[in-house]
Amino acid sequence: MGKVLLVGGAGFIGVYLAKELLNAGDEVVIYDAYLNYIDPAKSNYDTFLHLRLEDIRDKVKIIRGDIRNKARFFTVLKEEKPESVVLLAALPIASASNTYSEDAMDINLHGTVQILESLRQVDGIKRFLYTSSSMTYGNFEYAPADEKHPTNPMGVYGGTKLAGEILTRVYSKQFGIDYTIIRPSAVYGPTDANRRVSQIFVENAIKGKPLVLHDGGSSKLDFSYIEDVAKGFFLALKSPKAINQTFNITKGEGRSLKELAEIIKELVPNTQIISKPRTKAEKSPERGALDISKAKKLLGYAPKYSLEEGMKKYVEYVKSSGVLK
Ligand SMILES: NC(=O)c1ccc[n+]([C@@H]2O[C@H](COP(=O)([O-])OP(=O)(O)OC[C@H]3O[C@@H](n4cnc5c(N)ncnc54)[C@H](O)[C@@H]3O)[C@@H](O)[C@H]2O)c1
Repeated sequence: MGKVLLVGGAGFIGVYLAKELLNAGDEVVIYDAYLNYIDPAKSNYDTFLHLRLEDIRDKVKIIRGDIRNKARFFTVLKEEKPESVVLLAALPIASASNTYSEDAMDINLHGTVQILESLRQVDGIKRFLYTSSSMTYGNFEYAPADEKHPTNPMGVYGGTKLAGEILTRVYSKQFGIDYTIIRPSAVYGPTDANRRVSQIFVENAIKGKPLVLHDGGSSKLDFSYIEDVAKGFFLALKSPKAINQTFNITKGEGRSLKELAEIIKELVPNTQIISKPRTKAEKSPERGALDISKAKKLLGYAPKYSLEEGMKKYVEYVKSSGVLK
């Protein structure tokens, strides 16, 4: 048991991780700027934020602050004296990071440096957990991709995330900060507000709008249910075996967008699935399954939800939460 500072903890992954920590008896402090990069006309951010925080609001301390404001963050760090710090705050959307590239550099890169600079100036932090991404790998050269797979990111997002990993390792070597790096992929489930493909498909199906597959929907992603991912973060944060290690924390399976659409169609009958040629010039890496054997072996990580089971829970949540009304 200890005190954990979740930076970007009011986000999708952060709140689920907060619940894991609270269940284990930890004290949780959240530092978050409430930033959202989705077009307000398409976003239900406020509703999701409200739903997300509802379960934990009375059990955690929430401090509003931006990671780019080093003075503010440093003051919080000195006052709160956490045992560990988890960095989740980022511009977390690959496409938006290409569009708003300066913001991505500013938050994901400059912001990460501000956190590391603060950490080097305090004693007593037992672990810094940096949230990276499977986008650091770029096009998969083989699948399942293990942590030793070459890192050749294709976009600004993956580039800034990889830079953050490198700086995390550098600060660890120079200033003795013990770290753990986690690379998640395609996390899905209740209260995600970043309009990733799983959210778009589920909401479209429930609203009676078609699910659009590009080029037949053959692209594969390692879709990972939020509860499994939060458990993986928790195990990595707590395990001494995770010190100065990097882990893929995903389901460990590559599933195509066509499969995702068909699973949703089973859950929401009458859903229409249509195929269109890809129109966007934007390049996304060809990905698939990540190898999670390292996390299984060292951390005892065991994701429970198949895509079918996770989607069932997600669809039921969206239907019953009333968020689409
Ligand atoms: N969700 C996924 O599929 C996925 C996959 C790979 C990696 N990741 C990484 O996981 C982390 C969390 O992602 P998420 O899905 O929970 O996203 P999210 O947008 O729900 O959460 C991010 C949180 O960070 C906060 N934030 C953003 N910029 C900030 C800043 N400058 N200062 C302080 N707070 C700031 C936001 O307000 C938000 O609450 C991110 O680093 C993301 O890159 C997510």
